[in-house]
Amino acid sequence: MRQSSLVVVANRLPLDDNAAPDGACEWRRSPGGLAGALHAILDGTPATWVGWGGGVGPARPLPDIGTLRLRPMSLTEEELRGYYEGFANSTLWPLYHDAVEQPVFDRGWWETYRSVNRRFAEAAAEVAEPGAAVWIQDYHLQLVPQQLREMRPDLLIGFFMHVPFPPPELFMQLPRRVDLLRGMLGADLVGFQREQAAHNFAQLAAKLVNARGADEAILLDGRVVRTGAFPVSIDVAEMQQLSARPYVVNLARQLRHDLGRHKKVLVSVDRLDYTKGIEHRLTAYSELLRDGRVKVRDTVMVQVAVPSRERVENYRGLRDRIEREVGRINGEYGRVGEPAIHYLNQPFDRADLAALYQAADVMVVTPLRDGMNLVAKEFVAARADDTGALVLSEFAGAAAELEDAFQVNPHDLDDLKETLLRAMDAEPADLARRMAAMRAHITENDIHAWARAYLTSLDLTGSLAQRLPRRRSPAAARG
Ligand code: ADP
Ligand code: F6P
Repeated sequence: MRQSSLVVVANRLPLDDNAAPDGACEWRRSPGGLAGALHAILDGTPATWVGWGGGVGPARPLPDIGTLRLRPMSLTEEELRGYYEGFANSTLWPLYHDAVEQPVFDRGWWETYRSVNRRFAEAAAEVAEPGAAVWIQDYHLQLVPQQLREMRPDLLIGFFMHVPFPPPELFMQLPRRVDLLRGMLGADLVGFQREQAAHNFAQLAAKLVNARGADEAILLDGRVVRTGAFPVSIDVAEMQQLSARPYVVNLARQLRHDLGRHKKVLVSVDRLDYTKGIEHRLTAYSELLRDGRVKVRDTVMVQVAVPSRERVENYRGLRDRIEREVGRINGEYGRVGEPAIHYLNQPFDRADLAALYQAADVMVVTPLRDGMNLVAKEFVAARADDTGALVLSEFAGAAAELEDAFQVNPHDLDDLKETLLRAMDAEPADLARRMAAMRAHITENDIHAWARAYLTSLDLTGSLAQRLPRRRSPAAARG
């Protein structure tokens, strides 16, 4: 077995095994922010990625992607239901997102979650060199740090939570809360998106397992577990480079033309997830149309909603409700050849997304709760000409950084409506100032800065961070 000095463990591999229309296997970039973010920093770094490639049944061996080795994990149908769809996405996901949907506590799922976590820990133990650093990602794998430490005490173990980590009032509802917390405390460094999450974690550690210490360093069983906020980001240079390509610029122009040259174009891009606030957004837009404050002849909305977790009950119900609502709004306010909303329930490739970001007058990112939201950062990176407005939920992690966005409370429909109008009517000079400030922030705090900050904290000698690829220069980024 080939071993690596850096091992990433995440639920998904950066590629997804999809069946092509003719039944053949087709590899695609995995949906969601995590895979894209990590893939960018591993480009050129020798490492192994342990993760699931989608689907059920035995895992097929996969070729390396450059310097990155892939260690695919299989899931059986029962594991998929109990671990991924069940405990991870029907219990933890809703609970960690403010319980905007009711979390399901099914006792049968726990054992599967624990045993799948153990298999991931065993795989990591197998591919990690003596003294290697193992970086475990997200809520699917909360038990892995402790399980891995028991198997391989020689390793440096990091854990990063991409989603919100809830306040004690919510976390305390979890059956198995002590096991989940102890699982994370097996790491040397536990990273979160926001300071508040690290604070919640320290409070829970004191309350549930009698740990001592402060937010930055928790003392348990004679070991120090460091914690901190490391807001994840995007490959800004890559997005700028992509946005400057003639194909993307022309496509953006074409989109503007097709959508109606003189119209205000509102764009949203989300996984089809109930945490993203799509229904609230549609209600606000529909009320603006009803009140006559927005007219179909001069405004149009594009909602891209990529299918996600489609076998989980809450997601199926959501898709039905959204499709009904889009149909109702178009039926009531659209005109022949002129819908109020273009709704696209399909994956987009990166260049098409970049063109859509460029075609927007207003990017509407209004999750009810989100660990970070990388779409907001991608939009800013794509707007090198300092035009366009970003409407951003206060409940997205990105709001702590993008202070110059038009921030909004998406639970407050009146606030949402007024903020959309303010963003549509803003002066170009105001928009340019805001966009330049936001772009300066993300350029400084890109995905490379994130990885460097996290890995420098994990390995205080700095040798791990030194192995990462250098950030591309802005000149290269301009292409
Ligand atoms: P999450 O991790 O919850 O999905 P983020 O906003 O952080 O949310 O990340 C979403 C990622 O998925 C972004 O990188 C975005 O570009 C990508 N994405 C969103 N919608 C689509 C789509 N229709 N097709 C392809 N990629 C998408
Ligand atoms: O952190 C959010 C997350 O669960 C990531 O792990 C992943 O990038 C994204 O959502 C997509 O979810 P899934 O892997 O369930 O399709």
